[in-house]
Amino acid sequence: MMAKIGVLTLSDRASAGVYADESGVAIQNLLKEWIVGDLEFIYKVIPDEYELIKSSLIELCSQGCDIVFTTGGTGPAPRDVTPEATKAVCDKILPGFGELMRSASLKYVPTAILSRQIAGIKDKTLIVNLPGQPKAIRECLEPVFPAIPYCLDLIGAAYIECDESKIKVFRPKKR
Ligand code: MTE
Repeated sequence: MMAKIGVLTLSDRASAGVYADESGVAIQNLLKEWIVGDLEFIYKVIPDEYELIKSSLIELCSQGCDIVFTTGGTGPAPRDVTPEATKAVCDKILPGFGELMRSASLKYVPTAILSRQIAGIKDKTLIVNLPGQPKAIRECLEPVFPAIPYCLDLIGAAYIECDESKIKVFRPKKR
């Protein structure tokens, strides 16, 4: 089964065409580099609107996405509401993702602690928030990605295989 991956960019300016979305593109490029086999992406760029983010997340989950990555809207600014919308749609929160992404990011920027990014499960979809900075995508995904394939196994999502020479993933139990 081909993995289906949602990429949701939250940015008032990128959605208005003020600049091009780089971080949503970076997510897709990184996953194509790491994951073996074809991937189907569903990619959307929308403004930082709480209700719109919630309805977009629910739609991506009902379209059968195995993972949804969001980028942007995780900071302290008034319009940053991605973690709230994510929490509202999830059945379970996985606090380890935010904890590890923030602590790993401190190697790169002292402002890493400003990201309120979270991750959680809705039905058979893993949702992971990433910050909006294009360079933050690899910085945050590299530390947490090794646990993602096994997480997908546990929730009944697609089985994904990765290129060992690019990223080492960890499954405690072989299928
Ligand atoms: N994390 C990493 N790895 N790299 C970064 O450059 N930028 C930080 C933080 N986390 C950053 C990062 C900054 S400056 C902010 S304000 C927050 O993420 C929130 O960013 P967002 O509102 O675009 O999601």
